[in-house]
Amino acid sequence: QKGGYPHFMLKEIHEQPEVFRKTIRPRLNNGLPDFSQESIPDDIFRECTHIQVIACGTAMYAGMVGRAIMEKELRIPVTVSIASEFRYDTPLMDQHTLVIVVSQSGETIDTLAALRLAKECGCKVLSIVNVKGSSIARESDYVLYTHAGPEIAVASTKAYMVQLAVLYLITARMALVRKKDSEEAVRAFITSLEKAPDMIEQIMALDETIRKQAEKLAFAHDAFYIGRGMDYAFSLEGALKLKEISYIHAEAYAAGELKHGTIALIEPGVPVIALATQDKIFAKTISNIREVKARDAYVILITKEGADVSDDVYDIHLEIPIEDDRFTVFPCAVILQLLAYYTAYAKGYDMDKPRNLAKSVTVE
Ligand code: F6R
Repeated sequence: QKGGYPHFMLKEIHEQPEVFRKTIRPRLNNGLPDFSQESIPDDIFRECTHIQVIACGTAMYAGMVGRAIMEKELRIPVTVSIASEFRYDTPLMDQHTLVIVVSQSGETIDTLAALRLAKECGCKVLSIVNVKGSSIARESDYVLYTHAGPEIAVASTKAYMVQLAVLYLITARMALVRKKDSEEAVRAFITSLEKAPDMIEQIMALDETIRKQAEKLAFAHDAFYIGRGMDYAFSLEGALKLKEISYIHAEAYAAGELKHGTIALIEPGVPVIALATQDKIFAKTISNIREVKARDAYVILITKEGADVSDDVYDIHLEIPIEDDRFTVFPCAVILQLLAYYTAYAKGYDMDKPRNLAKSVTVE
């Protein structure tokens, strides 16, 4: 059942290139995104003035990456809300809001309640769901299924990956429909997206290096994940993965926020997983990393290959083989998943069934 892997989580991490391709390919037509099989009308993409993403946990963190890419490519405001907060808020949405609900199980009760609220407000709801025929899929106006297959490990990995893939596809379709980009530019975007599975496969080659770092991380009481912009969104997911399966206290911070309080927690040896994959704010992030390094933090730095960084700012430097900043989430996600997995492994925990957690949260 585990296909020769010691745990479902590792098996599911390794399935990511395949499920990514399965999710993307049926939705491409002559190199362009096409949702006609799902009967999703372009009007919902053309006519909205605001996008509201609603989800919980890892699915919400996928939504945060989605927001970054959508706002950048489409120049349309995108809000990401935690479903359990959103459902008790006074919603600011109407028929011009496109609501995107993201859920692996399709049964998360708060997400379902938020979906119902959105429909009461007259919004069209497009959901990104993994489980066919689930409640969220049934109650949405439109569904784009992720083809991750069953995700058994409680900690989500491959479902996150394909939620991202679909959010990127929606971005590309919207860019086309709203004439934000030429067909040629959208085709180039899709070509880069299609490279993600190969990139993920290349990251698997870092397995041994990541495992060695995890063996060190296993002794930590706290860990910090830092990054700016998109890197911050990846950091949030990385920290969640580590805490839920290795029980190490982990927090993600927007790197520029450190000096507003959190840097007080940095003491010699504290692990800081620093992500600096975005050219625009690279120098700023590196200067934040210098600040934690000056306090003797143990820095695991992740950058694009060939990034100009001197060796006094990190203890270990992991490079991802990619040039286009917009797609760095795919390799980064795998590094952060493996880091969490091997840390839990080193601690001897059953990461497929972490304490206090259920795969699907169907009660409030
Ligand atoms: C973390 C994790 C959870 C889920 C969250 C939402 O690894 O799996 O944070 O992402 O409970 O679940 P779904 O996507 O089923 O709505």
